[in-house]
Amino acid sequence: MFFPEYRARRMRRNENLRRMVRETFLRIDDLIYPMFSAAGSGIRKEIPSMPGIYQQSIEHIVEEAREVRDLGIPAVILFGIPETKDPLGQDSYSDQGIIQETIRAIKKDLPELIVITDVCMCEYTDHGHCGVIHEGDVDNDETLKLLAAQALSHVRAGADIVAPSDMMDGRVAAIRELLDANGFSRIPVMSYAVKYASAYYGPFRDAADSTPQFGDRRSYQMDPANRIEAFREATLDVQECADFLMVKPALAYLDILRDIKERFDLPLVAYNVSGEYSMIKAAAKMDWIDHDRVMMETLTGIKRAGADLIITYHAKEAARLLK
Ligand code: PBG
Ligand code: ZN
Repeated sequence: MFFPEYRARRMRRNENLRRMVRETFLRIDDLIYPMFSAAGSGIRKEIPSMPGIYQQSIEHIVEEAREVRDLGIPAVILFGIPETKDPLGQDSYSDQGIIQETIRAIKKDLPELIVITDVCMCEYTDHGHCGVIHEGDVDNDETLKLLAAQALSHVRAGADIVAPSDMMDGRVAAIRELLDANGFSRIPVMSYAVKYASAYYGPFRDAADSTPQFGDRRSYQMDPANRIEAFREATLDVQECADFLMVKPALAYLDILRDIKERFDLPLVAYNVSGEYSMIKAAAKMDWIDHDRVMMETLTGIKRAGADLIITYHAKEAARLLK
């Protein structure tokens, strides 16, 4: 194949031809929509750094979940903003906690919508860390008990999938064991297996009021410079019986997505995180980029890199364009 006989442009001449040779497809089925459920009622507060995304109380969450369902999006992932926070994050494993109440409300009206829950402590602890603090650091093994209890109470409330995002060692096994011991062997675990200590989570922490009150998350989340370590993390989670693997964030880690896709045979999820969303919104607001085209190009790129599913704040906007 040499120029001038071979000419690549022949295959790009018009849209139908381009459709015929297209390699990657973003589908509504690939999308998971994140939602922030706040304790109280009558709340619908836009997150300043995330236009179009709201902290909202349960009745509004159910309303938006219905819209998500009507767009054909198969799943939502829930984050909770509790009434009160404490050192042990007790709301997170209370059967009357904000997430448990939210799950029941969604499942009552929309039983077929897949409800995934983020399992972590940071939205519920007053110190904002993803686990219990002991002598100034997050205590791994003490935290495992609380994470497993949290996952169990989500499932009891009706969650379809639990997604631990804390990055404690051994948490997938701890959750699997407690779920199985309580008759929930049918519930999959979606592990945030490869989660980096990223500045791209900034807007989310405003949304979830979960900024650490001291220090940072670098003693449990991964160093952005590391690739081989991602394989070790994913291997451990596979051994602990994870059902999905996740890489997070997405855009600065597309190489990792590709690597994990090639090395592991579990469905792979990419988390297109808050900062990635906010950057597109901000640039579009300045009229510096074409919002819809940049959004679709970004989501397609995440799929092309190897993601099977994408958690994205753009899910509703993308679904409207894909319909
Ligand atoms: C909780 C959690 C975070 C995100 C998802 N689950 C924040 C963090 O680890 O600091 C980030 C999501 C986003 O930025 O969109 N551990
Ligand atoms: Zn956390």
